[in-house]
Amino acid sequence: MHMEEIKEPKNAHFEWTPDMTVGEEMIDSQHQRLLAQLNKVIDAMIYGEASQEVASAVAFFGQYADEHLAYEEAYMDRRGYAAIEEHEKWHQEFRDTYADFKQKLEGHVTPDNLLIEMEVYLGSWWTNHILHEDKKYYEALGPAM
Ligand SMILES: [Fe+2]
Repeated sequence: MHMEEIKEPKNAHFEWTPDMTVGEEMIDSQHQRLLAQLNKVIDAMIYGEASQEVASAVAFFGQYADEHLAYEEAYMDRRGYAAIEEHEKWHQEFRDTYADFKQKLEGHVTPDNLLIEMEVYLGSWWTNHILHEDKKYYEALGPAM
């Protein structure tokens, strides 16, 4: 998909569905909260809330995501997940990309461009990550004990 093809931002909403379970209750509930929080960031940008509110939603999402990724990494480590290093690389990719977003938001990139990036990249990153990468450790480890 080319960015130019998007005429105006669509109000995309991301939602946790039961098929996204990874067999660990806390991680499932963190994933639900993450997707809900991502929607708040997108809404704040779509409905033109004060830039300060957008910035605080973006900051909250980043912090929550960091805490979640650390929790999940500790879980995979505790369970002895063999492919943890590969998984952590995906997490690092998210951290790096998100740090870029925050910089752009504070810089010269217009919020509209940033909004499209947030929807296209972040929404698909999280849904794909949960459905594919997180599923791999669930398949390997089974449910939490
Ligand atoms: Fe993950």
